[in-house]
Amino acid sequence: MTAISNVNADVLKQAQQRIQQDLQTALEAFSLPEPLKSAVHHAVMLGGKRVRPALCYATSQLQENNPNFAAVRRAAIAIELIHCYSLAHDDLPCMDNDLLRRGQPTCHAAFGEDTALLAGDILQSMAFEVLGSRLFDQIQAVDAEIVLKQMQILATASSKMVCGQVLDLQAEGKHVDQAQLENIHRNKTGALIQAAIMMAAVTIFKGTDQAIPQLRQFGQSIGLAFQVQDDILDIISDTESLGKTAGKDEQVDKSTYPALMGLEQAKIYAQSLHNQAFEALSYFGENALELNQISQFLLSRKS
Ligand code: IPE
Ligand code: IPE
Ligand code: MG
Ligand code: MG
Ligand code: MG
Repeated sequence: MTAISNVNADVLKQAQQRIQQDLQTALEAFSLPEPLKSAVHHAVMLGGKRVRPALCYATSQLQENNPNFAAVRRAAIAIELIHCYSLAHDDLPCMDNDLLRRGQPTCHAAFGEDTALLAGDILQSMAFEVLGSRLFDQIQAVDAEIVLKQMQILATASSKMVCGQVLDLQAEGKHVDQAQLENIHRNKTGALIQAAIMMAAVTIFKGTDQAIPQLRQFGQSIGLAFQVQDDILDIISDTESLGKTAGKDEQVDKSTYPALMGLEQAKIYAQSLHNQAFEALSYFGENALELNQISQFLLSRKS
């Protein structure tokens, strides 16, 4: 299957509605003291494209009526909680020092650095608690082996995200070559995006299925493309559309794809990564319609 011509926004909208409800349900299961409760609510519930949950649901769609859909819903919550934690920490003064996120004050701007730090910490453990819970298990309990695999995938990707963030900070104001930059981006951003796909993949495919390496390849390409696009948008978009401060990367001399190869080359590179992603999806034919639509959205996104 090649790229579809018109982007169907409904797939993402439906995913956003489902995850919004599921996140609400998950947060209600935790009893947190104030101001932690409000800070967690702020970091999780206010905005966000919800791309990672959408990728989770769309991967599950590769099999009609997935009997393990409860595990997919929990994985979608878990990955979004980890992502929200990564954003709350990414924005801290000791990291990217940002004041605007998802069109709102960043978590530390609203609640102070101490609470924002702790909100990130607890979001991380909450993600694993949700993954191992019985949430949405009404009809059929999920096989423990699947849950274990999902936990391993999420833990590995979360560690990679942290390692990528360290490398990202170290690379500020320095020249890194393309291989080094690719390593940073694959870790800090690509790993969690790939994990969103693989946590759903293990609910429908066995480790020996050819579908697994295909999805891994898809996740790797779309994951790297996502951060290349984020770097591009930081330059070509504006603060209002982004909901975060535009032009920030250049201000602090971040190592980015446009800085390394120029804006036009970076755009060409993002497109070529998307082509690789579509290539990997072609293995699934028509079943990959939703994944295809989300990939299409990611390439044309403005925020
Ligand atoms: C922003 O991620 C941080 C990166 C990893 C590039 P998103 O662009 O998915 O942020 P939200 O969730 O939509 O706010
Ligand atoms: C973010 O990269 C990566 C993670 C949050 C792990 P950026 O620092 O470029 O993300 P934004 O631009 O602040 O959203
Ligand atoms: Mg950063
Ligand atoms: Mg940042
Ligand atoms: Mg950025």
